Amino acid sequence: MTAERQGDAFENLLHEERRFPPSEAFAANAVAQPSLYDEAREQGTEFWARQARELLTWDQDFTETLDWSDAPFAKWFVGGTVNAAYNALDRHVEAGLGDRVAIHFEGEPGDTRTITYAELTREVKKAANAFESLGVAKGDRVAVYLPMIPEAVVTMLACARIGAVHSVVFGGFSADALRSRIDDAEAKLVVTSDGTYRRGKPSPLKPAVDGALEKEGHTVTSVVVVRRNNEPVEWTEGRDTWWHDVVDGAPEEHVAVAHDSEHPLFILYTSGTTGKPKGILHTTGGYLTQTAFTHRNTFDLRPETDVFWCTADIGWVTGHSYVTYAPLVNGATQLMYEGTPDTPHQGRWWELIEKYRVSILYTAPTAIRTFMKWGRDIPQKYDLSSIRVLGSVGEPINPEAWMWYREVIGGGQAPIVDTWWQTETGAHMIAPMPGVTATKPGSAQVAVPGIAVDVVDEMGVSVPDGSGGYLVIREPWPAMLRGIWGDPQRFKDTYWSRFDDMYFAGDGAKKDSDGDIWLLGRVDDVMNISGHRLSTTEIESALVSHPSVAEAAVVGASDETTGEAVVAFVILRGSAKDDDDIVTTLRNHVGKEIGPIAKPRNILVVPELPKTRSGKIMRRLLKDVAEGREVGDATTLSDPTIMQQIAVSLRK
Ligand code: PRX
Repeated sequence: MTAERQGDAFENLLHEERRFPPSEAFAANAVAQPSLYDEAREQGTEFWARQARELLTWDQDFTETLDWSDAPFAKWFVGGTVNAAYNALDRHVEAGLGDRVAIHFEGEPGDTRTITYAELTREVKKAANAFESLGVAKGDRVAVYLPMIPEAVVTMLACARIGAVHSVVFGGFSADALRSRIDDAEAKLVVTSDGTYRRGKPSPLKPAVDGALEKEGHTVTSVVVVRRNNEPVEWTEGRDTWWHDVVDGAPEEHVAVAHDSEHPLFILYTSGTTGKPKGILHTTGGYLTQTAFTHRNTFDLRPETDVFWCTADIGWVTGHSYVTYAPLVNGATQLMYEGTPDTPHQGRWWELIEKYRVSILYTAPTAIRTFMKWGRDIPQKYDLSSIRVLGSVGEPINPEAWMWYREVIGGGQAPIVDTWWQTETGAHMIAPMPGVTATKPGSAQVAVPGIAVDVVDEMGVSVPDGSGGYLVIREPWPAMLRGIWGDPQRFKDTYWSRFDDMYFAGDGAKKDSDGDIWLLGRVDDVMNISGHRLSTTEIESALVSHPSVAEAAVVGASDETTGEAVVAFVILRGSAKDDDDIVTTLRNHVGKEIGPIAKPRNILVVPELPKTRSGKIMRRLLKDVAEGREVGDATTLSDPTIMQQIAVSLRK
């Protein structure tokens, strides 16, 4: 879909007249003041050098802020050495903050753990020793397949401590998806758990790891298993070890050796426009600087008094940047919740906010829309007066959801910060500053200080206010991805070849008459389902890998709750029957190949797919069908009657 076309659908949004400036009291005391923008503008990259020195403790100071001589491969804070785990843990304990709560953990069944900075530091040191005893060394890759439990954070930081590179795989991905990520990263160790809890019942995880490692030819030598739900598990002697056997008794002392600023911190796989997920590579110094900076400024963080809650799973970048790294580097107290929002009742989140006095809530529009559907009387039963800042991430937030969020959850007071960023950008790139920006429902508005965001036309020329185009980033930024694991050419092709010298984000955007930015969704074959990224090609490949399917085309159709939903059109092979069973079979097949999140909402069996004369599937027309619209211009089809045939077959 072109940015233009998306723009039309959002035209009415741009006439949004409502403005919500911060209260005088909020503005006067805010962490981020208007001067921050001036400083960033005046100082250029030196602005980031200052932030890096202020926010992090460097073992060895850097000698150069940015080396862009080998663009698009950036080096930030050259010559500096730093340890991520030391910055997230030890230094707070050394500063006398060991008794501060780092994590309030609440399990889905209601079990709780309160973990101070001193305790978390001890756990991470023990885990670092344990991983080293299993042969993991600096530079080795560790796959992490865990639920939202403290051990997930401990594992990531233990890897960072020893310089091992973690690759977290979301627990909702299947054994096959896990295996392909393990293979691509050549992981040596996998850390998992027996399982977790989902909607009041134990839900397994270990079987997916067993399934992933069933076939020979992988690089994994050890699997460490956290006991979480006490369900029986299969055991492979010589490969599997319980966490409590290897970590609990490990030595409590571990020295954090500083790593080069550009030492790889993690790989995180995300969907692109082709079938194969990309391993996005992040390194240490720049990533930590920008995540800590944005966490402090975008959320107006007061580490001494705030209770921060980012509801994202650690399987996504939001969980990396705003659960594991930034809150701990900033010495904040956070809440971590294992389960779903409706277990055991639909007020669980609000109950947790009341219980822990959460003051900053960071979540996704899809969750907000779900709560809207459940009704405002549910949150209204709880005391949410502790909330003072609300964040949104993952997809455009529609103005209705924005207003509901502000009024019902934020008491009509708390500023909303809509944060645009990506796995690739590592940290917030577009977001209001809560004490400075007069917020607008539906718009992420302005670039973060120090970030050069623009909207350009097909030719790469900056569009005037009131026009739309492609979102780009004009200058390198500290938390930018450093590449795609093992595929430098794909890194260049994907992000740096569409426009000269600019990072192409893959999103359509518009500038309104004030110059504020509105995000309009992807302009490529990437879908956004409940804020999760999936590629149409990836699901098409999964569908055609089933023996009954001859051909498949997938589109993202707009959906009231999930933002977009997966709709698949399939042509069956001659022998396959078109009935309910085949649809169920294919949905489950996609679940097995990729994971439950990728299961299509609808699978429509069709006789043909609309193709251009050069054989390209016209997804635009399928999207019209999927969204129940009149089908658009079909004159470039090789067979113009196909859309009619599809319509007839769907009526059947
Ligand atoms: O399309 C944009 C959308 O999510 C994409 C990035 O997805 P992912 O790498 O999974 O990271 C999600 C969490 C940072 C973007 O290309 N997106 C993310 N945040 C927003 C958004 N779209 C509109 N508004 C946002 N605030």
